[in-house]
Amino acid sequence: MKKYILAGLSVSAILFSCQTQQKPEVSKQEIKFGYQVYKKTCSACHWESVTPQQIEKIKKTVMAGGRPPFGAPPMAEVSARVKKFYPSEKEFVAFVKDYITNPSKDKGVCLPMAFKVFGTMPPIGKGLSEEEKEAVAKWLYYRFNISWEEFMKREHHK
Ligand code: HEC
Repeated sequence: MKKYILAGLSVSAILFSCQTQQKPEVSKQEIKFGYQVYKKTCSACHWESVTPQQIEKIKKTVMAGGRPPFGAPPMAEVSARVKKFYPSEKEFVAFVKDYITNPSKDKGVCLPMAFKVFGTMPPIGKGLSEEEKEAVAKWLYYRFNISWEEFMKREHHK
C-alpha cells in the first residue's frame, strides 16, 4: 500500500513540475486572439502601421487643413509610445486595460498633438470582456518591437 502512495506522489510531482515549466507568460493563441479583438474593435480608428510614404501624404493633408484618413494614431506608434512610459509587459498591459476602459487626457501618454488632432479616445474597452482586454493589450505589446526613439527617427525625421 505504502509503495502505491509513494508511486502516486512521484507521478504527480513529475506532472506538476512539467506543468509549471510549460506555462509561458503569453501564448501564441492569446496573441492571435488579441489580433482578432484588434481587428474587430480597434482597427476602425487605429491602423496597424503606416509607411513613410503614407506619412508624407498624410502630413501634407493635415498641414493643408484636412483630416487624416484614420481616427487615431496607428498602433505601431501607440505601442512604442506607451512602452516609453510603461516598459515591462506587466505595467504596459495594466495601463492599456485601464486606459481603454477609462481614458482621459490626464493619464494619456500620447503626444499632445494626437489629442489635438483626434480628441480623447472613447471608452471602447467597456464593451470588452476581461479576456479580450488582456489579449488585445498583449498583442499590442508583442506585435511591435521598435523603441520610441527609433520610431521617431524612422517616421518623422527623414
Ligand atoms: C473611436 C476611435 C477609437 C477606437 C475604436 C479605439 N481607439 Fe484607441 N485611441 C483613439 C484616439 C483618438 C487616441 C489618441 C488620444 C488618446 O490617447 O486618448 C487613442 C489612443 C489609444 C492609446 C494610447 C493612450 C495614451 O494616450 O496613452 C491606446 C493604448 C489605445 N488607444 C488602445 C486602443 C485599443 C486596444 C483599442 C481597441 C480595443 C482602441 N484603442 C480603439 C481612438 C480610438
